[in-house]
Amino acid sequence: MKKVLVIYFTQSGQLHQAIKATLEPLEKSETVKLYYEQIKPQRPFPFPWSYMQFFDAFPETVQGLPCDLEPFSFNKDEHYDLVIIAYQPWFLSVSIPVNSFLMSPEAKTLLKDKEVITVLACRNMWLNAQEKMKVALDHLGAKLVGNVTFVDKSGNLTSLVTVLAFALGGIKEKFLGFFPKYGVSDRDLRENAPKYGEIVNQHLQANDYTTLQNELIEAGAINIKSNLMLLEGRGKVLFPLYANYISKKGTSGSSERRTRVRIFGIVLPIAIFILSPVITIVSRIIPLIFPKRIKSEINYHSQNFLRQKN
Ligand SMILES: Cc1cc2nc3c(=O)[nH]c(=O)nc-3n(C[C@H](O)[C@H](O)[C@H](O)COP(=O)(O)O)c2cc1C
Repeated sequence: MKKVLVIYFTQSGQLHQAIKATLEPLEKSETVKLYYEQIKPQRPFPFPWSYMQFFDAFPETVQGLPCDLEPFSFNKDEHYDLVIIAYQPWFLSVSIPVNSFLMSPEAKTLLKDKEVITVLACRNMWLNAQEKMKVALDHLGAKLVGNVTFVDKSGNLTSLVTVLAFALGGIKEKFLGFFPKYGVSDRDLRENAPKYGEIVNQHLQANDYTTLQNELIEAGAINIKSNLMLLEGRGKVLFPLYANYISKKGTSGSSERRTRVRIFGIVLPIAIFILSPVITIVSRIIPLIFPKRIKSEINYHSQNFLRQKN
């Protein structure tokens, strides 16, 4: 019997749906036992978020500062053959609850020398968060052997509007009557997710993950667009600077930093609206000038090794 521990966090349930759909073949297998562990912050993050709460979470998320978690219920003495970490990026970083798990003493014991597969369900920008995940897993001595990503496949500006309507207003379907539904499509979950799970199951049974990621890529489990990759590149540089600028004024939720948080909440969406079309044009030109560079970047982010150890 193969034992698989699935560790996840979700606010709206999207990530839970994504793992349920992906792991359906493992659920059905008589030789696999799945154990689910939902990460629960002691002070739950709000959903829907207020505008201030949402943007106030930015500095600590980007700086990787943990929150207190409820005790875990998984059996620390159990031998798990595989651990699946299902998470969402927040502000191009690992969401605070999942990052807090990664920083816990329990993760240190659990993940040492363990094979890990990550599953993400998000808007469309996950590359930098996954880089941070790779670094954290590397520090913990875990072996990242697979990655599956689910994204919202609408245009970048469309999903920017719908994710904000979703996160701040709790509106998932047809915002203002005409915007498409936010999030990972039902079709992706119905038709593609079980294919990825089937591939994972084969490698789990064989206890050999050598070709897992390439098969997942082949099946469509990795979604990378060059324009979003370039846009993320900007955010990756600027976010830590602005996070420091805000946190210099005060700690999470403090009134001293409200003005800086508010400015960020206005500037970020505007910057994306301005930069997104510009970068889309640039992203059409750059591959013509540096075709190898863009291709090798996409290949790198499709794989699980770490380019540089921090
Ligand atoms: C504070 C916050 C920041 C987010 N930042 C990103 C991001 O940088 N990239 C992205 O693709 N999605 C981002 N999202 C969307 C989430 O990844 C995810 O799709 C959404 O929160 C629903 O997930 P859940 O309900 O399963 O937790 C963000 C969501 C929140 C709440």
